[in-house]
Amino acid sequence: MRKLNVLVIFGGCSSEYEVSLESASAILEHLDRAKYRPLPLGITADGRWLFFQGDIKKIRDNTWANEKDAVPALLSPERIDHRLLLFPDPDKAPESVPVDLAFPVIHGKNGEDGTLQGLLELFGIPLAGCGTLSSALCMDKDRAHRLAALAGVRVPRSLQLNSPDPISQALSFALEIGFPLYVKPVRSGSSCGITRVERPEELPDAVSLAFHYDSRVILEENIEGFEVGCAVLGTERLITGEPDEIELSEGFFNYTEKYTLKTSAIHVPARVDRELAARLKETAKRIYRALDCAVFARVDMFLTPEGDIVFNEVNTIPGFTEHSRYPGMMKAAGFSFSQVLDEIIRLAVRS
Ligand SMILES: Nc1ncnc2c1ncn2[C@@H]1O[C@H](COP(=O)(O)OP(=O)(O)O)[C@@H](O)[C@H]1O
Ligand SMILES: [Mg+2]
Repeated sequence: MRKLNVLVIFGGCSSEYEVSLESASAILEHLDRAKYRPLPLGITADGRWLFFQGDIKKIRDNTWANEKDAVPALLSPERIDHRLLLFPDPDKAPESVPVDLAFPVIHGKNGEDGTLQGLLELFGIPLAGCGTLSSALCMDKDRAHRLAALAGVRVPRSLQLNSPDPISQALSFALEIGFPLYVKPVRSGSSCGITRVERPEELPDAVSLAFHYDSRVILEENIEGFEVGCAVLGTERLITGEPDEIELSEGFFNYTEKYTLKTSAIHVPARVDRELAARLKETAKRIYRALDCAVFARVDMFLTPEGDIVFNEVNTIPGFTEHSRYPGMMKAAGFSFSQVLDEIIRLAVRS
């Protein structure tokens, strides 16, 4: 059988650029070379597109964008014959490599938010992941909540702000829902720009910090209990991984904790009984469908002390290193990292 040329797109103009390098390296390392020819396409933090032909280690340590290993590249908009155009010499006609599918591995803005997905869909390139609409919806914490609520899933009480002024509107809502509460940019990731606000006087700084990251900000009531996640894989028929659980010993799951797990721990499977695990899986699938997800995504929820499941967010391009939650949950359900990649690629080329 002919090998499939898999365009793995990494990096990007996003506050999660470094996380993308880790995820993409793991994916590139695990793609079975007997079945696939990986084509690494990096986007630098300032937006240059480069086809990378060096050692994967250089992606991991962020030395990949050098003249020896990387050449300027562009995707051809041709819908029938998908190609990556390479420009090793600016004075000569480009070389080109055929592309069978694209696997975007860029977290956050300009990669996970539907913009890149729109470009790939426009060019007719099969996409290993959620499409334009669902990527944009899942990136928008306010709209995602509204749709999940319509599907019958509990969501935190919240208020969206379109401007930092006047702060009085935020303050009166805060007094209504009580403290602590969460202030977040509507479209963010890796906890960037998020504050857990303990007292009213901390609110103005939290709001202005969040507005540095986005033009819309959301205030959310604190949900008691703990966070759980569920990996979902599929487009028509859905399978799930075993739900996981985040054990926090203080504060919230901020950027440092996410990538060091200094004071927190992730338990896979979550320490819940079978009935609750089944309910988490069903709720995750319901949210996945409500937000029009396809191929794969990680659904994050909270589990309250009363056993209520509350929606938090969907990550359409979740962290994908060997230690990341999505592959961990799939592993607990019996699927190896490479098997998950095989299934993602099978779903992408079939769509
Ligand atoms: N409403 C909430 N109640 C309790 N904890 C929350 C709430 N919202 C966010 N958190 C905490 O903040 C973390 C980051 O928030 P999240 O909405 O998941 O943003 P991100 O997209 O950056 O991951 C969560 O993992 C959780 O620890
Ligand atoms: Mg999160």
